[in-house]
Amino acid sequence: MRLGVNIDHVATLREARGTVYPDPLDAAILCARAGAHSITAHLREDRRHIQDDDIFRLKELQTLPLNLEMANDESIIEIALNVKPAEVCLVPEKRQELTTEGGLDVIGHLESLKDSVASLTEAGIEVSLFVEPHEMTLAACKDIGAKVVELHTGAYCDAEPQDRPVLLEQLIRGADFAHEMGMKVNAGHGINLENLGGILCIPHLHTLNIGHSVICRALFHGLENAVSEMLEAVMEYNG
Ligand code: PXP
Repeated sequence: MRLGVNIDHVATLREARGTVYPDPLDAAILCARAGAHSITAHLREDRRHIQDDDIFRLKELQTLPLNLEMANDESIIEIALNVKPAEVCLVPEKRQELTTEGGLDVIGHLESLKDSVASLTEAGIEVSLFVEPHEMTLAACKDIGAKVVELHTGAYCDAEPQDRPVLLEQLIRGADFAHEMGMKVNAGHGINLENLGGILCIPHLHTLNIGHSVICRALFHGLENAVSEMLEAVMEYNG
């Protein structure tokens, strides 16, 4: 099992103040040092966190494979074809959403997704489709040439404990189905240390992509050090 860390929130903090820090590239380097297997960054159409320049720097200046999350949009596909990340994960995107809500409507966008999968694959990029674990959707992914699917774990992760078994069963069946069809299976969204136990029951998983909970925990793991550091610097005062 491999861990991909989504570092979008580092850029969210930077953009909130319009500063040059914190830099998602520094975050990626720390993730590599901690043993993460890949870095995920979402270049959104509204550029609310990750910027084009981040994507180029994340590809060139750190060692982990870059998984570029993006909408199936012509101008962003063009950027991906220039940057050539190791992977592209196509996701649905709405401007007003706080985060990616739901999986791709693959059946509703068969032709345009098929073209994008083909051109990205031709450029040597591994393409995954972020989808709900439904058999018809997964079969459509296979039909249009996707070699990888990322199962959307959000519904399971955000559900009340009593609702989780049914949702976990759907993820397990979806993973089995995708694997039987020869596709690689990744998973992500909403995963944290509390709900991870269920996620680890899903078979055939290659990579888990986790962002929000890791960055949130990093804040609290790092806060004490940050305050101590600042205190030490302030104590230099001798006026
Ligand atoms: N995978 C995909 C396709 C996503 O869109 C996201 C959210 O950006 C994640 C994984 C990570 O989700 P979270 O931030 O909830 O861990």
